[in-house]
Amino acid sequence: MGTDVADESQVQELVASAEREYGAIDLFCSNAGIGVGGGVEVLDAEWTRIWEINLMAHVYAARAVLPGMLERGEGYLLNTASAAGLLTQIGSAPYAVTKHAAVALAEWLSITHGDQGIKVSVLCPQAVRTAMTAGSENGGVAGVDGMMEPEELAECVVQGLAEERFLILPHATVEQYMQRKAGDYERWLKGMRRLNANFGSSTGLPR
Ligand SMILES: NC(=O)c1ccc[n+]([C@@H]2O[C@H](COP(=O)([O-])OP(=O)(O)OC[C@H]3O[C@@H](n4cnc5c(N)ncnc54)[C@H](O)[C@@H]3O)[C@@H](O)[C@H]2O)c1
Repeated sequence: MGTDVADESQVQELVASAEREYGAIDLFCSNAGIGVGGGVEVLDAEWTRIWEINLMAHVYAARAVLPGMLERGEGYLLNTASAAGLLTQIGSAPYAVTKHAAVALAEWLSITHGDQGIKVSVLCPQAVRTAMTAGSENGGVAGVDGMMEPEELAECVVQGLAEERFLILPHATVEQYMQRKAGDYERWLKGMRRLNANFGSSTGLPR
């Protein structure tokens, strides 16, 4: 069912229609996302668009399915963020910021509703071979740690859901990078500046 996830009424309709046809929703996968390259100069209209898709779509999804899930005392939200939501996105402030927001929302949902039977997982991959990263494997920052195939990522997601793990990290290196960031922020920033000097103009995201 074609749905613009940035439009809350369409998300509500999607959920209502799925429930009418198939019954209660056990697992809602909120996966849509876009990339916008650039920094603070990016126009407000583009900031708003990426905010609505990369963050508000997760809010709309949760708003639509949570009441029923809370009533039943069970339900699962799988929100796709990105490693950019834990680390950063070289060359794209809007992507880094909105993916951090998506991670923050997932954490909040898990903390607030975890004891009411609501499971939450947040998917934070690095580069995966999809339309989003097309053409960036050689030379783009998205390709520095290699490109994962979608099938391999899907396996990690299925396993992460089976284990009901909050943080699903298909790329093991991301956990190390998170630890380095938390362990020594200043050093992490210096390292990221070096990466930015090499790749700053090549985000790996479509413009
Ligand atoms: N490919 C990667 O390397 C990578 C890495 C980390 C995170 N992600 C995230 O994974 C998710 C999936 O991306 P992908 O790599 O498959 O990219 P993709 O561009 O192939 O797919 C994104 C999908 O989102 C849909 N979409 C965009 N705006 C929408 C809207 N308003 N309403 C409904 N659908 C909309 C697009 O139609 C497309 O099908 C995104 O959230 C992305 O940010 C991707």
